[in-house]
Amino acid sequence: MTKAIGSPVARVDGHLKVTGKARYAAEFNQPRQVYGVIVGATVGLGRVRNIDEASVARLPGVLAVVSHKNAPRLPYNPHKSGIDPATGERLHVFQDDVIRFYGQPIAIVVAESLDQAEYAANALKVFYDAEVPETDAHDAARIVPEAIGRSHAGAGRGDAEAAFEKATMKVDLEFVIQRENHNPMEPHATIASWEGDKLTLWSKSQFVVNEQAEIAAIFGMPAENVKVVCPFIGGAFGTSLRTWPHVTVAAIAAKLVGRPVKVVLTRRQMFFTTGHRPYTIQRMAIAAEPSGKLVSIVHDGAGETSRYEEFMEALTAVTPFMYSCPNVLTSYKLIPLDTSTSTYMRGPGEASGMHAMECALDELAYKLKMDPLELRRINEPAIDEGRNLPFSSRQMLKCYDVAAERFGWSKRTPEPGSMTDGRLRIGYGMSTASYPCLFYQANARARLLSDGRVEVEAAASDMGPGTYTSMTQVAADTLQVPVDRVTFALGRSDFPATPPHGGSMTMASVGSAVRAACLDLQAKLVAAAVSDRGPLSGLQPDAVEWREGLLVKIADRHRGHRFEDIISAAGLNELVGEGSATRAQDVNEKYSMHSFGAVFAEVAIDPDVSIIRVRRLVGAYDVGRVVNPKLAESQCIGGMIGGMGMAIMERTVLDRRNGRPINAHLADYLVPVNLDTPKMEVHFIEGEDTIANPLGVKGLGEISLVGVSAAIANAIFHATGKRSHELPIMIENLV
Ligand code: MOS
Repeated sequence: MTKAIGSPVARVDGHLKVTGKARYAAEFNQPRQVYGVIVGATVGLGRVRNIDEASVARLPGVLAVVSHKNAPRLPYNPHKSGIDPATGERLHVFQDDVIRFYGQPIAIVVAESLDQAEYAANALKVFYDAEVPETDAHDAARIVPEAIGRSHAGAGRGDAEAAFEKATMKVDLEFVIQRENHNPMEPHATIASWEGDKLTLWSKSQFVVNEQAEIAAIFGMPAENVKVVCPFIGGAFGTSLRTWPHVTVAAIAAKLVGRPVKVVLTRRQMFFTTGHRPYTIQRMAIAAEPSGKLVSIVHDGAGETSRYEEFMEALTAVTPFMYSCPNVLTSYKLIPLDTSTSTYMRGPGEASGMHAMECALDELAYKLKMDPLELRRINEPAIDEGRNLPFSSRQMLKCYDVAAERFGWSKRTPEPGSMTDGRLRIGYGMSTASYPCLFYQANARARLLSDGRVEVEAAASDMGPGTYTSMTQVAADTLQVPVDRVTFALGRSDFPATPPHGGSMTMASVGSAVRAACLDLQAKLVAAAVSDRGPLSGLQPDAVEWREGLLVKIADRHRGHRFEDIISAAGLNELVGEGSATRAQDVNEKYSMHSFGAVFAEVAIDPDVSIIRVRRLVGAYDVGRVVNPKLAESQCIGGMIGGMGMAIMERTVLDRRNGRPINAHLADYLVPVNLDTPKMEVHFIEGEDTIANPLGVKGLGEISLVGVSAAIANAIFHATGKRSHELPIMIENLV
């Protein structure tokens, strides 16, 4: 039998998706359903003086205008999980008249049809007492560098500042990365429906069990009274990890009108209250001996957050362990602004932090007159020097070798502007990439049916990487059956609980739980087979074994017993295996666990028309075992395109008078389209990391975005001889 794990199995849900049969949150229309359209504040700070409900009450179809004036006071009980703050959602929606940021939901208009709700929401008269918000992080960071935010004690070793002062070969740079907003194809959507005190939410979510717990905490009800359903997600990239205010608003509205309410955010509204990659400002100072051996790294980062909540990401997390260096100091500050809270966006923290480090290293390499790749190679560490721990696995040098070879790095001539293609200036650049191999407790259930098929279920999500498929592969291999004997179901809060579908932890965590559930099912099948009524009755469990999905007596391997025969002989209709997976605490304490990668970029600059084109991206990744090379490649290509958007296109611009995102639409918020997409190559370094988890996987969704922006930025310098220390890099900053 072919092994499913490691095979390029086509998406098991591909047919459903291309035929339109896959149902997304907004498509679960309910009987008697009505429509809610959220009204966002059109000032950036202040108070709602009044909402004139009479201005829309008589419009056709209008059922209700819900705001702080008539919404129930909700308990907002503290809620603990991996994603929301320990105190739960901090924006207490419709609980008072305070406006904290532009676009904050201040009312929802509910009507019989979507058109009627939209019309009335636009017509609703709202009066404000407005103040001028502070939304410019760059100004805030410059004006009061010490007073702002919460300062995180610097983490590090040695005396980085002193070593930096003494060194002669060094760079000391400031990097700015503009705010980016997630723009998945599918907008946020929730249908809320109450039956008595029970609430069902069909809601776009990367973390259905958290949405269940969060909404239960907000409404002060037992979690079992809330059910969240989300079988498909049309891309998310982190924006659906949290339960944002529209979910609460939909549930409030549904309760008040006594009918199911559907709320779908517009593209524009997705720039208001569903998170964004925070604006960051970073100092990156790196010093080396003339040989290139690093002697000091100082990394001071600051990122924007809202005034009502602290959002932190792993901005400086990679710095202490990526390279061998005796003196390292990192610090991290928050810049609270009158905006909505930032959130995780693919490669959160690492993408921004590594951009600064990898661009600074490139600049240092030019000072040292050294190949940038060579500079990385000679500073390759033997262990994680930050935590003084071995890596569970680290094939960084192989990533460099494979990516450089496939890219053709040896053809690069170091002098900036020295490579051309006709009138185009060509640039080659590279970067290292890393993302932690996370693992959180996960659970799964494997149900054997009387016809021999197996249904596996876990709360989980599949925002696009192919969770349905990869989990089916894991179950099929564990049970030694073909993939078409297994179905995997996900996206329901009443399924066994799983961690957030993010942080590249799904394959490791949920995959290990699926494996455990299937092993449990096998053990129960053996018990049934050797029981009094079973086909192998009288044998000890260790006298039997599995051979290609059949249970055999070890002494007589010719006669195998099928699943369905075993349970029917045992008089059972079905058999259920339960599995749970955790990572032992001592593994976390003994090993430093990360995925690694190397990314190379080729850009072409047309000096006559001032256009930057990314022509090629080549990545090589050490992500442990690859469960499905076809889907893994697809995942990485998607991450690379996201990284390209970060490098030269994506930027949310706020109107400093009122904090309004002025490019809150895809005409002005640029993302790469097919014509922008370069040739991309993805290579995986063979290996498995069984310290990290029993499946040997390290995760690859996040890392594929990391490093791409630096590789492109370094290539742009190589082509032009000009640096921009701000993302996105815009050609007007180079000419
Ligand atoms: Mo990922 S940014 O945790 O969806």
